[in-house]
Amino acid sequence: MAARSDSLRLLMLIFITWRGSMRCCAITVDPPEDLHAVLDPGRFGHLEITWRSPSSLMNLTNCHLQYQLEYFNTYKNKREVLRTPQRTYSAQFDLSKDVQARVFTILNGACTNNTMIKSKDYNEMVLHPPRTGIQDTEAKEFICVYYNMENLECSWRRSVKTPAGAQQRLYFWHKSLKQAVECPSYVLSGGVRKGCTFMGKPLPAFTDIYFCVNGSSPEGPLKPTFFSLQVQNQVKASAPDKLSLQTSSDKQLELRWENPAWKLSVQCLEWEVRHHRVGAEKIHSKPIHTESPRLTLPLSSSNERNCFKVRSRVSLHCVDHSFWSDWSHEACHPVLKTIEATPEPELNFASFYIYIAVAIIATLVVSLCVWATVNMMKSPPEKTVDSLIAKLLPKKLRPGVSKIFSGKKTCNDVII
Ligand SMILES: *[C@@H]1O[C@H](CO)[C@@H](O)[C@H](O)[C@H]1NC(C)=O
Ligand SMILES: *[C@@H]1O[C@H](CO)[C@@H](O)[C@H](O)[C@H]1NC(C)=O
Ligand SMILES: *[C@@H]1O[C@H](CO)[C@@H](O)[C@H](O)[C@H]1NC(C)=O
Repeated sequence: MAARSDSLRLLMLIFITWRGSMRCCAITVDPPEDLHAVLDPGRFGHLEITWRSPSSLMNLTNCHLQYQLEYFNTYKNKREVLRTPQRTYSAQFDLSKDVQARVFTILNGACTNNTMIKSKDYNEMVLHPPRTGIQDTEAKEFICVYYNMENLECSWRRSVKTPAGAQQRLYFWHKSLKQAVECPSYVLSGGVRKGCTFMGKPLPAFTDIYFCVNGSSPEGPLKPTFFSLQVQNQVKASAPDKLSLQTSSDKQLELRWENPAWKLSVQCLEWEVRHHRVGAEKIHSKPIHTESPRLTLPLSSSNERNCFKVRSRVSLHCVDHSFWSDWSHEACHPVLKTIEATPEPELNFASFYIYIAVAIIATLVVSLCVWATVNMMKSPPEKTVDSLIAKLLPKKLRPGVSKIFSGKKTCNDVII
């Protein structure tokens, strides 16, 4: 929407200028002079751009003087064009990128026979904001989610080159604040800051909010990164609940659900209903969009079991962007009367043989133990091991084994 009205405005400007140049070509206009900008780093690239009117037009009377400013909006990644009678304009620039702006003079009124003339030339300015911080240490994947329009939570990822002892900080600024403010409450993960929660400290909606993640480390400052957003575009609702299904007499299935505590009017919400048809060999799933918290569907073949779940988001009629909520619990029709009994673990042949083998081994071990105990009680203690081995092992293996068992004695001799 905004983009369309912007391009319409631009087209109108081009048309007016073109018409002007067709009607009057005798007068040429100089571009403005002394274009420059004053940077305010405390407000994340808040830039005051100023210029002077061309000195050649200083003594002109009966003239209406205007300026056309064009600049690249580095936060929104688009070109902005505007006209103003002022000689100053404030805009916000992402300081990790270069700032570019150009300005034209526009003349109108009795002095130009009431046609609009734009200067052929322009005055241009390119600003390279100071690059500070260790290369490749800027925060990555910055994202803010506004849960139920109650709690804004922003998070980011550390880039791999961030030194181990580094401490990151988040600052924010919007036009009602004199200066940037630090995050009220950091979210930690493994002792490291990875997010910020604004619980109970809401930020204004429909206002550009500027964020900066910077930080320091034993090896020097981290490279700062800048982000801009409006909080109403970051909303994620909690999952719808109380999903219920009802059949009416005329073979229709009615779905109803509720959205938990919600600040926006229902007109600003939309839902997606996902339908699974169980019973057939495949499971079908198709999304259905609806704009009210209920849906009536024709009930088809009675042999099928239909299952549904719902999720919601803020409608794109109300905001530019929003996140889908999680899915609700699933509700099915017909409801299964009895809770399916958990099936008995099947005794297949493989496990059957394993059980038998284990039982045989266990029996053997137990009887061996009993027999050994009885034997030990009968024979003198020092001979026990050898005699056991003699009974357990075939003759060929015996000498080696008895050496191992008599090892203790040999050791004693060495120590003495
Ligand atoms: C404007 O007028 C002043 C005196 O009225 C004169 O000194 C000056 O040179 C003029 N400037 C131009 C650009 O014509
Ligand atoms: C001013 O423009 C009108 C048409 O819009 C034209 O008829 C007239 O001759 C012009 N006057 C001068 C002085 O150029
Ligand atoms: C981070 O940004 C804030 C706000 O602009 C500033 O006050 C602070 O000095 C910066 N910290 C570092 C380490 O650059």
